[in-house]
Parts: sequence; structure tokens; C-alpha cells
Amino acid sequence: MPSVSGQVVCVTGAGGYIASWIVKLLLEKGYTVRGTVRNPDDAKNGHLRELEGAKERLTLCRADLLDYQSLREAIKGCDGVFHTASPVTDDPEQMVEPAVIGTKNVINAAAEAKVRRMVFTSSIGAVYMDPNREPEKVVDESCWSDLEFCKNTKNWYCYGKAVAEKAAWDEAKEKGVDLVVINPVLVLGPLLQPTVNASILHILKYLTGSAKTYANSVQAYVHVKDVALAHVLIYETPSASGRYLCAESVLHRGEVVEILAKLFPEYPIPTKCSDETRPRAKAYKFTNQKLKDLGFEFTPVKQCLYETVKSLQEKGQIPLPTRNDEPIKIHY
Ligand SMILES: NC(=O)c1ccc[n+]([C@@H]2O[C@H](COP(=O)([O-])OP(=O)(O)OC[C@H]3O[C@@H](n4cnc5c(N)ncnc54)[C@H](OP(=O)(O)O)[C@@H]3O)[C@@H](O)[C@H]2O)c1
Repeated sequence: MPSVSGQVVCVTGAGGYIASWIVKLLLEKGYTVRGTVRNPDDAKNGHLRELEGAKERLTLCRADLLDYQSLREAIKGCDGVFHTASPVTDDPEQMVEPAVIGTKNVINAAAEAKVRRMVFTSSIGAVYMDPNREPEKVVDESCWSDLEFCKNTKNWYCYGKAVAEKAAWDEAKEKGVDLVVINPVLVLGPLLQPTVNASILHILKYLTGSAKTYANSVQAYVHVKDVALAHVLIYETPSASGRYLCAESVLHRGEVVEILAKLFPEYPIPTKCSDETRPRAKAYKFTNQKLKDLGFEFTPVKQCLYETVKSLQEKGQIPLPTRNDEPIKIHY
């Protein structure tokens, strides 16, 4: 990898939860960053200008995924692209077209700019939604979600991400773009942006009292800083190729609320499962070996949950504990 000084990279959807962390790490490493946002004047993107190195090396460019010219302008002259922008919703109209057309647009703009490499933020949603997978099968980079199943279950987010990733591979091959893909599981950890994004709501609802019970289901988790570090690592590692599953561990919701209640007993964390009739859902097996083979180390999920809650406190999203005793200690 040549010195990053003077290297220009574009990050799409720069103000988002994961992208903000990618921008932060890239600036810290010395890259010059062009971040695309839909509205550079929106206060919700203000945190980007406060990042270390932003004054000297960050430009915010107005771009929409469905506006090819805007992407072309942002990516022109870049050495690399991190395509992280995507709607995150189960509304089919808002999800599918921007995810799929937007990804093709970014690849075409990257091809025109002759970038060295493009990293695309896909999702576990493009990997594991397959009702025919054997329960003992280890989920790895060879797995793909079943599109018919996603459609029939109205899981439009997973459908959109899977179709977008497939389109990315096809378009990159046709246009000769060096594409590497990352498939994160549910992302938690400190927020840089002022607003709460969808994956953080997954935890917030257990702290505010809005969830009275927890579901009988499992979920894989990963720390947001790890996700951003993995993006940069696969961008910088010439031998990196294909897809990279980015996951630390799978927990049942019962385990999540138990960890939260131990660390933060002040909050009204649910203690009852919404489904006490069926057997407890089992964690699926997965491998994160491909990233580990690049020397990558994951943050433990307990630390990730702890940092998420601390960040929500700092952002004023949940009240600070009012206990007079010792400050909360974490043991992991
Ligand atoms: N968080 C997770 O658990 C998770 C897990 C796996 C994969 N991912 C993937 O990671 C990426 C980032 O997710 P996130 O959690 O960071 O979500 P986020 O905070 O909601 O960020 C999404 C970003 O995409 C931008 N965007 C949406 N539609 C756009 C459009 N039509 N044109 C331009 N920009 C658009 C948004 O811009 P505005 O601010 O203008 O709306 C926002 O900056 C997505 O591709 C998502 O599928 C996330």
C-alpha cells in the first residue's frame, strides 16, 4: 500500500452511522476524503466537520444515489470509493430502487474515475435469509439470501441489499472495477452522528421502557469501529478479495437484556420473553475467519453493548443514572 498522504477517497452517505466512523478513521490515517451527503447544510451532518483533520482534508459533496451526475462529480479524481449509503427500511418503494440503481450508479462513476478499488457495504441480510439452510451449516461468505423467501416474508431490506450486492458484482465485473464487499451483522457501538439510526433502535427500545418484553430470537452483533476498521483494512490490503463477513457473536435477545441489566440496572430493561411457548431460538453458526486471516481482531459484544449505552447517555437519548453509589463498572 503506497503512503496514504495525498490519496483521495470518496465515502457515500458520509453522515450515516457507519460511514461517519469510516470518514473518521480515514482522516486519522491521513487520507483526503470526499463525503457525499444529500444536504451538506443539514445540521445532522455537522459532526463530520468537527472530526480531526476535517478542516484540512474533508469536503462534503451534495449527491443523491439516484442522481448519477452528482455521484460522478464527487468520485471524479478519487483513488478509491467506500459505498456505504443506502436506505435502511422495509418499505419496498424506498428501499429497492435507491439501493440497486444507486449501487450501479456508484460503480459506473467509480469506473469512469478509474479508481483503484471500491468497497461496498452490503449486509448479513444479503447472506443468511435462507429457509433451506441446514441448521448445522456454518454461515460464511458463500451463502446468499433466498430472494423469493425475502419477498414472500416482505423482508424488503434484505431483498434490496441482496439484489444490490448481486448488481454490484455484475456491474463491477462488466466495468472492470476492483470490488471488495463487506457484510456486517447488526452494528452497535458509539454514535458520532447526532441522530439515532435503525440498528441503535434495536438496543434503545430496551432502555427506554418502550419494549416490555424481548423476542424469542437471535441476532449477530459487531462493533461500529470494527466495521469501519474492516472497511479500511480490505481497501488497503491488495490481496483482499470477494466478500467479508463482519460479525463478532450471535446472542439470543434474552442474553442481550441480561447483559444490559447487569451493566445498567437503572433502566427498565425487560425480563420476560414475548414467546414462552416455543423452545428458545438457537444461535446460528457463522465464521469470521476470513477477516481474522487478515489479522483482524473483534471487540467483544459485552464491551460493544456497554459503549452503546454510554454513548446514548452522552447524546442525551436516555437519562443518566441518578444512583448515588459507585459509578457503573464493567467486567469483561
Ligand atoms: N447498521 C447496521 O446494523 C448495518 C448492518 C449491516 C449493513 N449495514 C449497511 O451499512 C450502510 C450504512 O448503514 P447505517 O447503519 O450507517 O445507516 P444510516 O445511519 O441510516 O446511514 C445511511 C446513509 O445512507 C444515506 N442515504 C440513504 N438513501 C440515500 C440516497 N437515496 N442518496 C444518498 N444517500 C442516501 C443516508 O443519507 P441521509 O442522511 O441523507 O438520509 C445516510 O447517510 C447501509 O448500506 C446499510 O445497509 C448497516
